[in-house]
Amino acid sequence: MPSLATIVVSISLYAASANAAPYKRKAFTLVQKTVEDATLFKLGGINYLANTQHPAAVIPLAQPFPAGVGEGTNIPVTVLSTNATVVTQAVLADILESYADGDDVFSEDFLEAVYITSSASTPTIDKSALEDLAGMDVRHIVIAKHFASVSGYAGNATIVKATNASSFPPGPYLATLSGASLSLAPVYRVYEDSYRDFLFGIYNTGDGSGNHTSLEVSYPNFGYRGIPVPSRLYFWNDPRPLAGYRVAIKDLFDIKGLKTSGGSQAWAYINEPANATAPSIQRIVDLGGVLVGKFKLAQFASGANPWDWQDEHYPFNPRGDGWLTCSASSSGGGCSIAAYDWLDYAIGSDTGSSMRRPAAVSGTYGNRPSQGMITLERVIPLGGATDTAGVFSRDPHKWAHFAKHWYTPSLHQSSNITGLSALQVPNTDAFPETILYPIDYLPLNNSAAEPILDAFIANMSSLFGMTVKRFNFTATVENATNPAVANLTALADGALDIIDSYTQWVEIAKPLIITWAELFDGRFPPIDSARRTGWQEFNESQVNLQTYNQALGQKSAAVTWYETHLQYSTSESCSESVMLYDIGTGGLPSYREEGLNNSPNASFLAELPPGAVITGASICPLYGCADFTIPIGQVEYYSEVTFHTEMVPVTINMVVKRGCDFVLFNMIEKLADAGVLRSVKTGKTAF
Ligand SMILES: *[C@@H]1O[C@H](CO)[C@@H](O)[C@H](O)[C@H]1NC(C)=O
Ligand SMILES: *[C@@H]1O[C@H](CO)[C@@H](O)[C@H](O)[C@H]1NC(C)=O
Ligand SMILES: *[C@@H]1O[C@H](CO)[C@@H](O)[C@H](O)[C@H]1NC(C)=O
Ligand SMILES: *[C@@H]1O[C@H](CO)[C@@H](O)[C@H](O)[C@H]1NC(C)=O
Ligand SMILES: *[C@@H]1O[C@H](CO)[C@@H](O)[C@H](O)[C@H]1NC(C)=O
Ligand SMILES: *[C@@H]1O[C@H](CO)[C@@H](O)[C@H](O)[C@H]1NC(C)=O
Ligand SMILES: *[C@@H]1O[C@H](CO)[C@@H](O)[C@H](O)[C@H]1NC(C)=O
Ligand SMILES: *[C@@H]1O[C@H](CO)[C@@H](O)[C@H](O)[C@H]1NC(C)=O
Ligand SMILES: *[C@@H]1O[C@H](CO)[C@@H](O)[C@H](O)[C@H]1NC(C)=O
Ligand SMILES: *[C@@H]1O[C@H](CO)[C@@H](O)[C@H](O)[C@H]1NC(C)=O
Ligand SMILES: *[C@@H]1O[C@H](CO)[C@@H](O)[C@H](O)[C@H]1NC(C)=O
Ligand SMILES: *[C@@H]1O[C@H](CO)[C@@H](O)[C@H](O)[C@H]1NC(C)=O
Repeated sequence: MPSLATIVVSISLYAASANAAPYKRKAFTLVQKTVEDATLFKLGGINYLANTQHPAAVIPLAQPFPAGVGEGTNIPVTVLSTNATVVTQAVLADILESYADGDDVFSEDFLEAVYITSSASTPTIDKSALEDLAGMDVRHIVIAKHFASVSGYAGNATIVKATNASSFPPGPYLATLSGASLSLAPVYRVYEDSYRDFLFGIYNTGDGSGNHTSLEVSYPNFGYRGIPVPSRLYFWNDPRPLAGYRVAIKDLFDIKGLKTSGGSQAWAYINEPANATAPSIQRIVDLGGVLVGKFKLAQFASGANPWDWQDEHYPFNPRGDGWLTCSASSSGGGCSIAAYDWLDYAIGSDTGSSMRRPAAVSGTYGNRPSQGMITLERVIPLGGATDTAGVFSRDPHKWAHFAKHWYTPSLHQSSNITGLSALQVPNTDAFPETILYPIDYLPLNNSAAEPILDAFIANMSSLFGMTVKRFNFTATVENATNPAVANLTALADGALDIIDSYTQWVEIAKPLIITWAELFDGRFPPIDSARRTGWQEFNESQVNLQTYNQALGQKSAAVTWYETHLQYSTSESCSESVMLYDIGTGGLPSYREEGLNNSPNASFLAELPPGAVITGASICPLYGCADFTIPIGQVEYYSEVTFHTEMVPVTINMVVKRGCDFVLFNMIEKLADAGVLRSVKTGKTAF
């Protein structure tokens, strides 16, 4: 979204250009050519990247540009595309206004030249429309081949006809003059990652190979990464459901052409760039999404606290005092979505809480889908049968839109990976009838936050005609007749623990340890403390394929019990209940600085409520269910960093039976339509 200021400027500039003082264009400044032969430049104080190595189009011209515009000259140009048969002053003013309004990459500074094209079959253009462009200091006007010739033009811009009718998207480009043709390179605005949430920015090399390359640009003085985002105008006529959406990816997923580090320099050192993109990420690209960067994560998807990160500098959370945790492991995902308007979505993984807790502390929407929802091929694993992939968003409708297109049966995991039945995901309004309120996990820890939850519950129950049922989760499970199902300690510390460590050991830890020892005279790889002891002491006589398969069996029995006794389907509901709990801090701040969390007015993460046996976060990793983090409000806290009152987000988690993800998304959209849920803002406060 452009700022209000941009819109106001654009209206006055385009609508009144004929009478306004002549526009003074800001100069094009070449910054440098990159190793990939792309061009970094500045225009009006803003940084841009143009993929000059792989232009979007080459336009042959009827005659060369006038003397003074030399071979190789870079000219910022805007492609103006219309469907009008008669292109008038008003048509052009409308186009320019809509471009300024709908895109953060386009600016008036790209109007040094324009290329005007129309989808009409025999279009004409008013000479007054062209004369009017002079008011915006347009120097060169290129007109598409099929326009009737213009006569009597009195302005002093160069007017040139194109001699070929290739078609390419509207928007800003960097043109390079070569003989009598213009080569149009797609333009990216390069944003500074001032919250340090990314490892690096990326863009598609544009050579048709599907490779992405990292943008090797950082800004002084803190080394903020440059993140390139393409013009949104390139996608205006693209009907694909995710066309033009900018998506950040956890550096756990392969993207062709880039090394996947898992947040570890050692792992990156021993590995080559990926030679294919993870199918889950390729689907986003196929649906039109644009991959803009790899975001920071707790190393190897661990749950490391901020103060335990060594290989990477811990990312920053824009909320509150700016000193709050981003949680783990998809830390840079939730925080970047909370930080940047120019970013639409972030993709992370969740094994034990890694989507849901980062969403909670950043006050964004984030989901752990049902077990088996999407393939994790070419994704660094943690526990093969508990890993899942989810999406962060600021807006409930946009979040549901993405998820419903991204998750698709052809990418479901097979039962031999999940150890569970094949997944069925109905997209219906068979909503739950009961709100389960577990008294061992609620109320929220901060009593000032509980009224926000109470209002949410009241709103939801009246909207859907639901009944609230208070129950004790722990007592209910422990009441199961099968002792293997009733023993939560055995399930969490036994089965789940084995599942969560075995896959990573086989596929990542062991190869890294062996390779590193070979390369460096028997040394153990330098890794963060979260994994060091577990890997060093890993005991294959205790955790191996046999115990892993046993654990899958125990988990499967627990899921069967859960789907019979706790959250089950009825003829009216996909999941008879939605269960609420809090995965965050219950409305208390949790700081990135360890010592500050000892205050009674702050909280560590992943605290076990008194009387509970497992954290709420572990429920769905165990029972395969879908668990979404939902921002519902915010409360004040007194910051131990700014010594000032600040706001911290309040979120709640909504849990439904495995397979009922889309029903829950439909319910969330209804809650949003009713004004119960709202989109969150970027920056210090979510609301
Ligand atoms: C022309 O474009 C305008 C604006 O995008 C649209 O509203 C209109 O329906 C289009 N007309 C035709 C004939 O395609
Ligand atoms: C023609 O262009 C020159 C140089 O940009 C400018 O100074 C002059 O005012 C322009 N004349 C008209 C009639 O637009
Ligand atoms: C003209 O356009 C056609 C179709 O867009 C393209 O195949 C051809 O290469 C172009 N010719 C030149 C000289 O650019
Ligand atoms: C794509 O990237 C891979 C890995 O970096 C590289 O080996 C390959 O040559 C690249 N392909 C192209 C067409 O540039
Ligand atoms: C990628 O590399 C692996 C290992 O080097 C190889 O087995 C595989 O065939 C390659 N895949 C592609 C798509 O090139
Ligand atoms: C799992 O099943 C798929 C087919 O559904 C098969 O291709 C694959 O080899 C199986 N994997 C294992 C580990 O058994
Ligand atoms: C435990 O099971 C018994 C017998 O089915 C039932 O009466 C009781 O309500 C259950 N208690 C809990 C806490 O679920
Ligand atoms: C539950 O399992 C643990 C071992 O995982 C065991 O120590 C404990 O005694 C069991 N509890 C019950 C009630 O059986
Ligand atoms: C590994 O586990 C086995 C079986 O529990 C045990 O006998 C052995 O001592 C353990 N090894 C180490 C190094 O702890
Ligand atoms: C609630 O907050 C207190 C004070 O910080 C903390 O000691 C306790 O662990 C928290 N409880 C939960 C369940 O988060
Ligand atoms: C819930 O049940 C467990 C197990 O019976 C018990 O330890 C705990 O105190 C109960 N919690 C509440 C809030 O009643
Ligand atoms: C939600 O519930 C609160 C408290 O009952 C009420 O004041 C508020 O108007 C409700 N909001 C919506 C959007 O229904």
